[in-house]
Amino acid sequence: MTDIRCIGICTGGGDAPGLNAVIRAAVKAAILKYKWRVIGIPDGFDGLIWPERAHELTLKDVSGILPRGGTILGTTNRGNPFSYKTVENGQEVVRDISGEVIANARKLGIDAIISIGGDGSMKIAHELFLEGLQVVGVPKTIDNDLCATEVTFGFDTAIHTATDAIDKLHTTAESHHRVMVVEVMGRDAGWIALEAGIAGGAHVILIPEIPFTIQKLCEHLEMRERYGKRFTIVVVAEGIKLPPEMKHMVRSMAVGNMVGDAISLVARKEVRVSVLGHIQRGGSPSPYDRILGTRFGVGAVDLIAAGGFGKMVCLQQESIRAVTIADAVGKMKTVDPQGEIVRAARAIGIGFGD
Ligand code: F6P
Repeated sequence: MTDIRCIGICTGGGDAPGLNAVIRAAVKAAILKYKWRVIGIPDGFDGLIWPERAHELTLKDVSGILPRGGTILGTTNRGNPFSYKTVENGQEVVRDISGEVIANARKLGIDAIISIGGDGSMKIAHELFLEGLQVVGVPKTIDNDLCATEVTFGFDTAIHTATDAIDKLHTTAESHHRVMVVEVMGRDAGWIALEAGIAGGAHVILIPEIPFTIQKLCEHLEMRERYGKRFTIVVVAEGIKLPPEMKHMVRSMAVGNMVGDAISLVARKEVRVSVLGHIQRGGSPSPYDRILGTRFGVGAVDLIAAGGFGKMVCLQQESIRAVTIADAVGKMKTVDPQGEIVRAARAIGIGFGD
């Protein structure tokens, strides 16, 4: 048992539904189980640049936040104390202020910090740990693409939102005999597209892991027409790799729009595109994400009590475990193109544009 009296907690990177569940659980467990004080650090590690902005989190502060999306602590996906950007005399200057950040944590009386974040935040947490900060991590991303954990909170809510959107597009697509393209999130991995696509009964799913061509995609539309189906739902992950025939298109446009334009050009069909964007990151977390967030929050507090600094909680074989942050960062979990889920999708006629 380590000598801890006060812990800090911060959220970094893009938000995800369930962050408040983690904060609430960590605050409650720290106070009720260990009698520690908790300091809320605003906007990720940036909050330690201005320690006066940090404030104590009491049981009252976390009351009622479980169903709320976002994070009550605020977040940023830009701040990095090892390469902090400022403007001095009109010039951009990049400085390493990690020493200040650690000193400020100590000034606040913080003995250990829970850093909740994605891969980028975990890299920073690991480097701060190497510099002497007692830190534990909680993994977060709606993309569900971290190797070290079977699931991240936020993913379940995101696929509910995306599935609901696909369901709604289904009825209008069918009425108008249209091709509906839905772009969902997933910068490096196609999990949201694959799972929401299957759940929403999509006909074509394009993901970064499976190279596609517009020709093959359009052949799928024609095949559906031969069966008498006059509408098609195409789910596109934002991180797809463009095929050679689309390389000339301007990438500043949402990729879903590019796919939509390419389909209408080749198949001469009426196409409509919906880009779901940050809607998938917002809103109230699903029961699954609330439960996983709660388990991660308690797990992180227990990890501090056990002296497991430099580690991150994760879900493995349905249990909360810990892995070293060093082992977890930079290792992506992508969709296996030959895996069981893709094979199941293909077996029911879903096309991948290949
Ligand atoms: O990693 C989560 C994620 O939502 C990605 O799917 C997406 O590409 C990215 O964050 C968007 O980030 P931002 O909030 O900076 O637009």
